[in-house]
Amino acid sequence: MRKPMMAGNWKMNLTVAEALDLARQIYRLVGETTAVEQLLCPPSVCLHPLKAATDDMPFLLGAQNCHWQESGAFTGEISPPMLRGLADYVILGHSERRQLFGETDETVNRKTHAVLAHQLFPIVCVGESLEQNERGETSSTITAQVRAALDGLNGEQIQSLVIAYEPIWAIGTGRAATAQTAGEVCGLVRVVLREMHGAAVADTTRVLYGGSTKPDNIAAIMEQSDIDGALIGGASLEADSYAEMVKITAGVYGG
Ligand code: PGA
Repeated sequence: MRKPMMAGNWKMNLTVAEALDLARQIYRLVGETTAVEQLLCPPSVCLHPLKAATDDMPFLLGAQNCHWQESGAFTGEISPPMLRGLADYVILGHSERRQLFGETDETVNRKTHAVLAHQLFPIVCVGESLEQNERGETSSTITAQVRAALDGLNGEQIQSLVIAYEPIWAIGTGRAATAQTAGEVCGLVRVVLREMHGAAVADTTRVLYGGSTKPDNIAAIMEQSDIDGALIGGASLEADSYAEMVKITAGVYGG
């Protein structure tokens, strides 16, 4: 059974005080639900205070990026050992990092190995651009990105991570993929996992959809059998909408 995950990607938003406030508001609205994993991914400076303040709340915490080296002369970066104890997950290869900060399939793969080596769980993001989508290259793009990101990992490692399908044209645009399309591409991710590591790995690895998810469309997305959750940007910055999405998902899963 793949447990559903609602992952809030707060991106470069919220001060520490605002982040603590948002987490507390969400907790007030959702309470103790265990049917859905609630993962909050704040800016890295908020991880430590958030960890301390939410210890008795059912949140997991995630970082939005990290370096693959353990330490060294990499000004501005943070490393997997620094995140140990503060974060459970690390988002890797988000399209904003690929487009704006030079992230490549190769660096995503290095980071995925490094994060797993430090007992953290990667959320590996893949997604096609609008041009690739219009040229009919969605399947080939996603297949290549998944294969490259997971290169050299064993089946057990893959089962512990999460893959997020995030079409670039749907991120922050208000134009989500239809539930059916999102479901089909997440199904394709599972086909690639099956080819790489067999059915057991493909059937147990969680695959999320991300891109303009909100309370209005989350039920249809979560009803897709190959989708195990959402990576939520804008709608995770409002306690009401994020809490609503957690509750709707718990309802879809009978929780
Ligand atoms: P969005 O962002 O929900 O605001 O489209 C999703 C993401 O970038 O993870």
